[in-house]
Amino acid sequence: MYKIAVAGTGYVGLVAGVCFAEVGHQVTCVDIDEKKVELMRSGVSPIYETGLEELMANNYSAGRIEYTTDFKSAYKDADAIFIGVGTPEQPDGSANLSYIATVARQIAESVEKDCLVVVKSTVPVGTNDKVEQIIQDFLVKDVKVEVASNPEFLAQGSAVHDTLHAERIIIGTESKWAEELLTKIYEPFHLPIVSVNRRSAEMIKYASNDFLALKISYMNDIANLCELVGADIQDVAMGMSFDERIGSKFLNAGIGFGGSCFPKDTKALEYIAKQNGYELKTVKAAIDVNKEQKTMLYKKASKRLITFNGLKVAVLGLTFKPGTDDLREAASLENVPLLLEQGADIYAYDPVGAENFAKVYPEGKNGRGSITYVANIEHALEGANVCFVFTEWGEVKAITPETYKKLMRTPLVYDGRNIYGVEDMQEAGVEYHSIGRKPATRAAVKESKNLELQNS
Ligand code: UDX
Repeated sequence: MYKIAVAGTGYVGLVAGVCFAEVGHQVTCVDIDEKKVELMRSGVSPIYETGLEELMANNYSAGRIEYTTDFKSAYKDADAIFIGVGTPEQPDGSANLSYIATVARQIAESVEKDCLVVVKSTVPVGTNDKVEQIIQDFLVKDVKVEVASNPEFLAQGSAVHDTLHAERIIIGTESKWAEELLTKIYEPFHLPIVSVNRRSAEMIKYASNDFLALKISYMNDIANLCELVGADIQDVAMGMSFDERIGSKFLNAGIGFGGSCFPKDTKALEYIAKQNGYELKTVKAAIDVNKEQKTMLYKKASKRLITFNGLKVAVLGLTFKPGTDDLREAASLENVPLLLEQGADIYAYDPVGAENFAKVYPEGKNGRGSITYVANIEHALEGANVCFVFTEWGEVKAITPETYKKLMRTPLVYDGRNIYGVEDMQEAGVEYHSIGRKPATRAAVKESKNLELQNS
């Protein structure tokens, strides 16, 4: 078993650290934030992630993991140091590498024995070379330090599971020593290991994420066309999914992709291409489709209602997907300001995301409109003129068409996640608009009821 230090305790760093401890390594997680370190020591995870706190507690009491701000003591005798700090997007789409560079310098000034530095953060191709250069420039002791790339593919909400049961571990190294050490560190996970050079490993991460982003945008593009030609995107996706070359995952059309990875990594790769004098047309198209998609339902509803002024608008779901309190690039962040500008009185429900959302849009009057955060769905729907679904939380999926019909003043629902059956909504008398499917109209309900009466 190895002595491992992990820099950064966000989704990537903390989950990796805890999982390394879980398989038996001795782990020290480093963060500059004192409060966060205190929190983790008391067994509380700074991020909302299924199963994480339990593993933190088990490994902490077993003495396999500790948390500190003291990077020097954590790095000095580590066999391997994993870097999992953020690489946030900059206004021009490029990745901000300053956190990585700072950690690289701290490592160089701290290490006292040979060690492998492993970059887990998503970084532009060639960054590992730069990290190695920084370490060589600032190295204090006469020790061997090499850099390896080991991109992370976990998804939020299932981060622990994704790490312990990853479909593949990508390791990008430039020497046999680094390759063997990293392979040994991962041995106890019993997972397939793919060993390539550093630049290919860096590229695999972007190419994988952007491919998935492209897949979603492609389905959203096709969904928009389905609406125009009278096809149903869910049937289309189902038919496509039987082709194993296409597969059944990530075919869900909706209100666009959000989160910390796809939006950032599509822009970053487009930027990398541009820097190299190449235009990455496919990825650019994915970005463009996604931007349009986010406000697709708002535009539809605007046409239908003309103005939201003074209307009670129920918003169900604020986070970028269920199972997380993360709001980054969530559709709600695009739509809520548009609704407020129009004078809507928003009643927003989210089981875990409301607190974070209220930091951006505090409860109460906001411009021409207002926002109220409610603890239950009924409160949001009661007397509402229109409802938007932005996140497919289980409890939102469980709302019956009859509930919409009963509680809303006007049963008018815009569903960005295609979670209800069009026919069911139609039967219940709810006007229902979703993505890539025909709408359920209230007028049609009357007609069908009349038909039934005539037939009986
Ligand atoms: C993603 C990748 O899945 C993961 O491998 C990578 O390491 C980080 O980025 P994450 O952002 O946590 O993970 O969430 P994911 O479940 O992939 O969803 C991303 C976005 O795409 C969400 O907004 C989701 O709603 C949307 N999505 C996903 C769709 O719109 N349709 C789909 O079919 C799948």
